[in-house]
Amino acid sequence: MSVDTPTIPVRCVPQSRISELDFNNIEFGKIFADHMLVADYKNGAWQTPEIVPYGNMSLSPATSALHYGQAIFEGMKAYKNAEGDILLFRALDNFRRLNISADRMCIPELPEEIFMQGLEQLLRLDAAWVPPTPGCALYIRPFIFATDDFIGVRPSSNYRFVIFSCPVGAYYGQPLRVAIEPNYVRSAEGGAGYAKAAGNYGAALYPARKMQERGYHQLIWTDALEHKYIEESGTMNLMFVIDGKLVTPSVSTTILAGITRDSVLQIARDKGIPVEERKVSVDEIAQAHKAGKLQEAFGTGTAATIAQIATIHVNGEDLDLPAVEDRQISLSIAEELERIKTGQAPDPHNWIQKISL
Ligand code: COI
Repeated sequence: MSVDTPTIPVRCVPQSRISELDFNNIEFGKIFADHMLVADYKNGAWQTPEIVPYGNMSLSPATSALHYGQAIFEGMKAYKNAEGDILLFRALDNFRRLNISADRMCIPELPEEIFMQGLEQLLRLDAAWVPPTPGCALYIRPFIFATDDFIGVRPSSNYRFVIFSCPVGAYYGQPLRVAIEPNYVRSAEGGAGYAKAAGNYGAALYPARKMQERGYHQLIWTDALEHKYIEESGTMNLMFVIDGKLVTPSVSTTILAGITRDSVLQIARDKGIPVEERKVSVDEIAQAHKAGKLQEAFGTGTAATIAQIATIHVNGEDLDLPAVEDRQISLSIAEELERIKTGQAPDPHNWIQKISL
């Protein structure tokens, strides 16, 4: 999809802030590109979006999203190819997932043209912010929140949709130490675990902090009923290589259907690597490790991309995994994914949308 003429009203910044950015030293999520897209929902309809300078918004203290968490978001990335075009990765899948989250949170469905045309136009305007640096990308954050200034508990009648972006490097700087969570719960059947709802992240902070105090970067969520099956980890889906097979928990109503997860599984299948999407128990991981068959473990996510796991804490014991440089399956998939995203390899699944400048 491509829009040749700008259709969305734009108010440009008087002067770009891009000189504040050191492209060789980009911290995750701290410096934001010059512009943002804003569209409001009122009187039962999404209004014409606008592109405006990135900046603070004025809100009523009674804004309902701040009280009851009626808020959802997405995360996606854009890259630059050797010719300097912007390559947007699987944006339509993020758009679809945003509306799945919207449905779960009683937020009105967002029209595709507001998301896709708005995004294209925003990216053209802020093209200079897409880092050409290997391993870096422009992280794009679309979100919707309830804007009624009313503190009764009910779905809001008014909403705001915003897209802003920020150049990013790696989310995790080193292979991770993770621990199985035996008590706290992220999500249960019938809950909102599959939605990218703000509250899912807020409620996870306390257990994650407790795990960090014990010396682990992240925790691994287990099922709410028995704490027996592995679900996901912090900001990522989880994958294991057990005896040459790529094994991952199947998505369900309790697990976010990760787009990086799906991309990794597709690349694995394309490469002829056996893939199993199924229940994965904590015991299976411990036993595979004991038998020397747990060859690799990693998380997948837009921000995290492919984040290697060095150690998994299970039942009072730290299980150390083989050295990252020996992990042939995840390293080869990560390399292929990066080549597709940056236009260095063919894109057989039409994941890339090229935005010519
Ligand atoms: C992403 O990977 O894009 C996420 O949404 C994780 C995030 C909360 C940093």
